[in-house]
Amino acid sequence: EPLRFSGVWRFHELIQFAPADKVVTVGEGQTLLQQANEVAKFVGQNEGNLYLQYEGMNPSGSFKDNGMCAAFTHAHMTGAKRAACASTGNTSASLAMYSSVTRLMKAIIFIGSGKISYGKLSQALEYGALTIQLAGDFDDAMIRVKEVSQSLGIYLVNSINPFRIEGQKSVMFRVLEALRWEVPDWIVVPGGNLGNSSAFGKAFQELKLLGLIDRIPRLAVINAAGADTLHQLYERRGLRWQDGQPNNTLISDYYAELDHRKAKADTIASAIEINRPVNLKKCLRALDACDGVVRKVTDQEILDAKAQVGAGGIGCEPASAASVAGAKLLRAEGVIAPSDRVVCILTGHQLKDPTATVAYHTTDQEQFNNVLGSRGVSRASFANR
Ligand code: F0G
Repeated sequence: EPLRFSGVWRFHELIQFAPADKVVTVGEGQTLLQQANEVAKFVGQNEGNLYLQYEGMNPSGSFKDNGMCAAFTHAHMTGAKRAACASTGNTSASLAMYSSVTRLMKAIIFIGSGKISYGKLSQALEYGALTIQLAGDFDDAMIRVKEVSQSLGIYLVNSINPFRIEGQKSVMFRVLEALRWEVPDWIVVPGGNLGNSSAFGKAFQELKLLGLIDRIPRLAVINAAGADTLHQLYERRGLRWQDGQPNNTLISDYYAELDHRKAKADTIASAIEINRPVNLKKCLRALDACDGVVRKVTDQEILDAKAQVGAGGIGCEPASAASVAGAKLLRAEGVIAPSDRVVCILTGHQLKDPTATVAYHTTDQEQFNNVLGSRGVSRASFANR
């Protein structure tokens, strides 16, 4: 029974769209919830109250496999022969992997120029995906891939795809399972295209409806300061889900402003360098269901947190550390109490995006300047330990 060996499909009853014999799996979702007391100290949590949900053990090295196995399953059910995505690197690595392992369809990938770490790009290339680099960034690539897949009838696997969201609910099922179904107080997750946060909200709403949990944890979504659309709209301008009628004018005005300023997303956390998250409205719904908050953290805060995660845990890529940096900020604000049980999601493997890590820890000034010099970031004293 191969479904039992998938950390996603063993929750098949809660992810109901595909008959068991149609499900695609390569053994995704074998992940780990780690109690991290060194990181708890850094965040300001009481010992024993900070957990890291490490998604880097997925076959392609990030949480994306949780959703890709589901989108890929659905694509196969529809008879698709080609699947496409725009990506900052992890979605594309995941799609390329499912394509090469299963041979069920051809993968086509759109990336922004110079906007992807070599670790992730090398995965797409080696797995044999057709990889197209566009002038522009992720937001531009997302617009293009939507046009192209629609006009050529190619199956789109970005998290705008609802089946991705279905699979990613399993991250929360596994967190709850590891906590013996005792609901934590907080789930803290980095926000990029906002697929994860949307999926988590949906998971908790459904579990509550089914009577499998008696309360819903609070959700904190953490933007990088250089890619903070959700934070701007939710915390600064008061955008809310409001029974499915979020204020579209607030959104379109904000995007018009970005266009006017020619503003581009910019952060060392390349995975979440996104200004126009495709799941913005679904995420508002999740924030509504989970009494959510949104914060933004600087590149410095991200790199400092990442170094702590590496020193006191399994490690992660820069975007993932936004969750820990965000938890620290919320603790400092008093929004998170030291006695709250907090789960930070580590979305990707430490080896995914090593350039910034090496620069952060180097004692070679030139090497540091090449990568981080223009970012107003300093090596923390911690780097010289
Ligand atoms: N962390 C990592 C490591 C990611 O790769 C991403 C998204 C996120 C966090 C943000 O998650 O989109 O669900 O809010 N990466 C996408 C990609 C955009 O193309 O790989 P989200």
